[in-house]
Amino acid sequence: MSQAEQKRIAGRAALRYVENGMVVGVGTGSTVAHFIDALAERRHDIEGAVSSSEQSTRLLKERGIPVLDLNATGELALYVDGADECDGHKHLIKGGGGALTREKIIAAASRTFVCIIDPSKRVDVLGRFPLPIEVIPMARSYVAREIVKIGGQPVWRDGVVTDNGNWILDVHGLRITDPVALERELNQITGVVTVGLFARRPADIVLIGAEEMR
Ligand code: 5RP
Repeated sequence: MSQAEQKRIAGRAALRYVENGMVVGVGTGSTVAHFIDALAERRHDIEGAVSSSEQSTRLLKERGIPVLDLNATGELALYVDGADECDGHKHLIKGGGGALTREKIIAAASRTFVCIIDPSKRVDVLGRFPLPIEVIPMARSYVAREIVKIGGQPVWRDGVVTDNGNWILDVHGLRITDPVALERELNQITGVVTVGLFARRPADIVLIGAEEMR
């Protein structure tokens, strides 16, 4: 089975967590795009969605799903999003698509975080996928030097500006054996907006797209 098909299966499987009247938090990426397609079939049952990116906002609106403001909705019952890596504790690396800050805000504001992935995302130890870190532009070089001190190799995602007007460093060479501690440490660096480690607030449920989920 192709990876695209595995993503489609995972995206559709998350629909079973959607209940009538809900406001659904919606992540970003190619797996989430399948979830949005499935959610469109339930658009008359739900109140709307809170979106984590301009990309997902466009997809949601194209499919007739109202996009709501998190400040107006308050706590969400459900957030559905993909990931770049997922370990056995449901700790994640996210931000390959550059939407990590809004994704992390919605995850924090949601009671249940359902993570939808294809099997290639499952790892024993996080860090093979370069860890995205969103930074204030003027702090890029300072943050990069601080990251080198703790053993990472930061690479500027040149040309990419996030939805929040910031820049991204992708940190290579980390073997993340204690994701909670590393997330805390990186969050302390001045100029860091968001670390793409979702360990202090991990996923609650992980759906891995596979044949038997059809
Ligand atoms: C975007 C993300 C995505 O969830 C992550 O990159 C996975 O994307 P895809 O479903 O396309 O593999 O964190 O910032």
